[in-house]
Amino acid sequence: MMNSESPEPSVTLTKDGSTTLFSSAYNQHYHNPNGAVAESRHVFFETTGLAELLQTDEPLTIFETGFGTGLNLVLCLDYLNQTNRKTAATFQSVEAYPIKPQTVRELTFGDEPFLNDQIPILAEIFGGVKPGINQIEINPLLKLELFWGEFDDFPDFSKEFIPDKNRVNFILHDPFSPDVNPELWTPDVFNKLFQISTSDATLATYCAATSARAAMAVAGWNVARARGALGKREMTIASKSAEKLSAFKRVNENRLVERFKKGDFG
Ligand SMILES: C[S@@+](CC[C@H](N)C(=O)[O-])C[C@H]1O[C@@H](n2cnc3c(N)ncnc32)[C@H](O)[C@@H]1O
Repeated sequence: MMNSESPEPSVTLTKDGSTTLFSSAYNQHYHNPNGAVAESRHVFFETTGLAELLQTDEPLTIFETGFGTGLNLVLCLDYLNQTNRKTAATFQSVEAYPIKPQTVRELTFGDEPFLNDQIPILAEIFGGVKPGINQIEINPLLKLELFWGEFDDFPDFSKEFIPDKNRVNFILHDPFSPDVNPELWTPDVFNKLFQISTSDATLATYCAATSARAAMAVAGWNVARARGALGKREMTIASKSAEKLSAFKRVNENRLVERFKKGDFG
C-alpha cells in the first residue's frame, strides 16, 4: 500500500525498449517487464477493438483505473493521430498517487517518436495536477478528466444511476495485481464500473485471476478469456453485452458467482 510518505517509483527498462516504473510500496512493476508499450497496446487497444473505435466518429468515453505513467492516454493520442475522427473523446482516469514530473521526463516509450513527443505534455499534466477532478483539453479530439484521489471517491460513482445517461464505453482496468492491490478487484468496484457504463460497454484487464473474474461476474458483467500479452497465457475481457464477447471464450459466470458466495476466494 502506498501513502504520501512512500518513495517515488523508480524507472526501469522493459524488453520492447520502453520504460515502466517499479513501485517499492507495492513491490510490483506498473507494466509487464517484457514490454510496457506492447502490453498496453495488446490488452487495452487491440484485443478490445478500442483501436478501431478511436478511428470512428462514435461517441467515446474511456475510464481508466490507475493513470500511472499516463501511457494509455498517450496511446489514445497515437491512435487518434492516425485517423480522421472528428468527434471528441473523453479519457477519464483515477490516480491516488500521481508521479512527479521529473520521473515522467526519465521515461521513454521506446522507438516510437510520436509517443516520446508526448512526454513534455505528460510532465505538464503531472506538474499541474491538483487533488480532485482536473479537466484538461489535450487537443480538440481528446479531453482528459484526471481524478487525483482514491478510486472509491471518484464523484461519478455517487451520482444517481440513470441507465440512458451512462457514458463510459470502455474501461481499462489497470490497478496493480489482486494480491497487492486487492481493494480494486472486489464486486463493489466492478459494480461501480457497471453503474457508470453504457449497455454495451467493454472492460479489459491484463489480469486472468479466477477471483477477479468471479468479482466481475458477481457485479453482473459477462466475462470472457482472451489471449494474454507477451507470453502470458490469458487476459480478461468483460462486457455488459454478451454479443460483444461473441469472438471470445466465455467463462461460466454462474459457477463463479456460486464459488464466490461459498467463500472460495477468501
Ligand atoms: C499498474 S499501475 C497503472 C499503470 C498505468 N495505467 C500506466 O499505463 O502507466 C496502477 C496504478 O494504480 C494506482 N492505484 C492503486 N490503488 C489505487 C486506488 N485505490 N485509487 C486510485 N489509484 C490507485 C497506483 O498508484 C498506480 O499508479
